[in-house]
Parts: sequence; C-alpha cells; structure tokens
Amino acid sequence: MTISGVEQASRVLRVLHVEDSELDHQLILAQLSRAGLKVEMERLDALPAVLAALDRPWDAIVSDFNLPGYSGLQVLEALKERRLLMPFILVSGEIGEDTAVAAMRNGASDYLLKNNLNRLAPALLHAIDAAENERARVTADHELVKSKQRLHQLAGHLQTSVELERAAIAREIHDDVGGSLTALKFDLAWIDRHAQEPEVRQRVAAALETVSSAIDASQRIMHNLRPAILEQGLVAALQWMTARFERRTGIEAGLRVGDERLALPPGVPLVAYRTAQEALTNVSKHSQATRVDIELSLDSGVLTLEIHDNGRGIAAGDLAKERSFGIRGLHERAATVGGWVDLSSSPGSGTSLILTVPLAADAIDALDDSTDFGNDTGASIWGRV
Ligand SMILES: Nc1ncnc2c1ncn2[C@@H]1O[C@H](COP(=O)(O)OP(=O)(O)O)[C@@H](O)[C@H]1O
Ligand SMILES: [Mg+2]
Repeated sequence: MTISGVEQASRVLRVLHVEDSELDHQLILAQLSRAGLKVEMERLDALPAVLAALDRPWDAIVSDFNLPGYSGLQVLEALKERRLLMPFILVSGEIGEDTAVAAMRNGASDYLLKNNLNRLAPALLHAIDAAENERARVTADHELVKSKQRLHQLAGHLQTSVELERAAIAREIHDDVGGSLTALKFDLAWIDRHAQEPEVRQRVAAALETVSSAIDASQRIMHNLRPAILEQGLVAALQWMTARFERRTGIEAGLRVGDERLALPPGVPLVAYRTAQEALTNVSKHSQATRVDIELSLDSGVLTLEIHDNGRGIAAGDLAKERSFGIRGLHERAATVGGWVDLSSSPGSGTSLILTVPLAADAIDALDDSTDFGNDTGASIWGRV
C-alpha cells in the first residue's frame, strides 16, 4: 500500500539523523516542524552506533556528508549491503558534483545543501513515498513468483494424479470387467460345444459376438487410459503409435530412433508417450500436413523427442487460445520429470514440437528399458480364448 504525502504529514515520522553537530540537528528539526511534519528524530554520530541503528525500523535516514572519521557515503554503502529499502537523504555543508553523483548512483534518494533546506520536507516525503512504492512492488513481485510456483506445482501434481487415477481405473477394468468377460466367453464357448438345438446355438453365437465386442471395447478403453504397449518400452510404443497414426489419418509418418534400447528413469517414458500423442493429435487436427517425422534420441544424457510436421504452422495467437490446454499441459507434464517443451514454427515450413529431458547420470546407469508400469495389466489375458 502506498502512503500519500498527506498521510505521512499526519503521522509521526521516525528519522535517523546521522550528524555530528547538535546545532545542525536542531536546525533541521526546526525546518521540518516549520513545514508541518511531525518527526521523531534521533541523532547519532559515532559510526558503530549508526551501523547498529540501521537495523531499526526508520521511515528515513538523513545524513551529513562530512562526519568524524567517515563519510555519509559509508552509511549509504552499509544500507545497500543490508539490502534495506530505506530512503536516504544526504545533507551537507558543501557538496561537490562528484559526491552528489556518487551518492545518487549508490541509491541515495536525494541530496541537499545545509544552507538551502527549504526542499528538505518535500524531499523527505517524496523519498518515503517512493520507498513505500518500491517495497510494495518488491512484495508484489515476490508474491507473483510464489504464486506462479504454486500454480506450477499444482499443475504438475494434477498431471501426475490424473495418470495415477487413469492407471487405477485401467487396472479395475482389467481385473473386474476383463476377468468376468473372459470367464463369460469361456462359458459361452462351452455351451456352444455342448448345445444341440440350433436355436440355442444361434443365440450362443450372437452372445459370443457381443462378448467379443465388449472385450474389444474394454481393451480400447484400457489402452486409452493407460497404454499397455509402454511396457514393451518407449520405442515400441512410438513405433506402434506412428503406424496407427498413419493408418488412421493417411498422413505419412516416419519414426527415427537413435538407440533402440533406451534406458529411461521412471515417469519419463509416459511423459514422452503423452507428448507424442498430443503432438500427433494436433497434427491431424490443426496442421493440414501431409507428412510428420518423429525423432527420438538420447545424446550425452539428454533425451530429445521431436515431432515435426510440414503443415501450415502455428500462428502467434494460437497458443493463447483460452480453451486450449494441450500444449500448456505438455509444458507442465515435462516439468514433472525436469524437462521442457519447445515449439518452433514458421509459415510454410510446418511446426516442430521438441521435448527435452536431461537425465541424471546415475538414473541412466541404474535402469533398464522398463517403464514405471507394473506388468499387471498386460493385454495377454484378453482374447486368449
Ligand atoms: N501442429 C500444428 N500445426 C498447426 N497449428 C497447431 C499445431 N499444433 C497446435 N496448433 C495450434 O495451436 C493451438 C493450441 O494447441 P493445443 O494447446 O494442443 O490445444 P487444442 O489442440 O486443444 O486446440 C491449436 O488450437 C492450433 O491452432
Ligand atoms: Mg491439442
């Protein structure tokens, strides 16, 4: 909050006066009260006492320049060292231009000559006002940084909990629905083998068809919730995704992989998988591209996944769309494993989305090609009958 000059004039201002002459102190005090300011002024002159007093809560410091054994600039220096946002006004019998410049450069609010103190009161009020504003700005900046951090943490947490929730639902579908449907299919197959009447066999055949399509649907839902293919490694999952994308959309899709056997820490394969998934969805939805290239490489401990299309490119306003969360979500997702996403695009040369994840050296050595998924939801039990 900013305090106006009027408010300052009506409250008692606490001012530290660094001054060796009691007479000058009284003069300044008289000057300020003549100007209508209520001031509680404490005079100190010995340097150690002045330095000790800096940590007390002053509204402002008024300091002489020539002091016994030191100068006012030293007090200013000490203020700066302590990062105190306190107004500092230099008042001197005579002040050279060099000194004035040095003082202002070091953060003094103002400088005045002792033989012309008319400006002191307004200068003091102005300096206090400016310091209040600066303090408010610093606090607001700090709050903004903190709130951005909290937002990032929340977004990251949401991404992670959504994945955990999806995995839990997939597991339930697998264990409960999947188990029952498979058992049902066994029983129907048994009835089919043992039934004599054609009507019953007809019904059983229809029921078997329904169960098969229910099994297909559950598999599809499970896959969308939690890509079981990732259990075979990120490379296999990307190969599968690329082939399926090409088949579904008719957009030519190529995958280049530097090293087939990638050792990745937990969490990273899923982030890479979801990134490729969103990027490919965007290519089919927005780009009007005829070709997309996916490249995965691990170089000097840095994993890079690039999805490049030859489409129309992203326009400046596209990423600011209020209801578009795909790419924003990717930034947050990448941050959960210490990575980031870059986008580059120019009209005519398409769009590149690049995920970069630096991997900790020990994480690379310690891990094989497994992902953070257990093996409990393998697709193997489906359709075994
Ligand atoms: N590969 C791309 N080519 C052209 N435009 C794209 C591409 N990817 C994204 N965009 C643009 O960026 C916008 C934001 O994308 P995104 O954050 O994924 O949100 P959404 O896909 O839900 O709109 C899209 O609406 C689209 O206009
Ligand atoms: Mg999208």
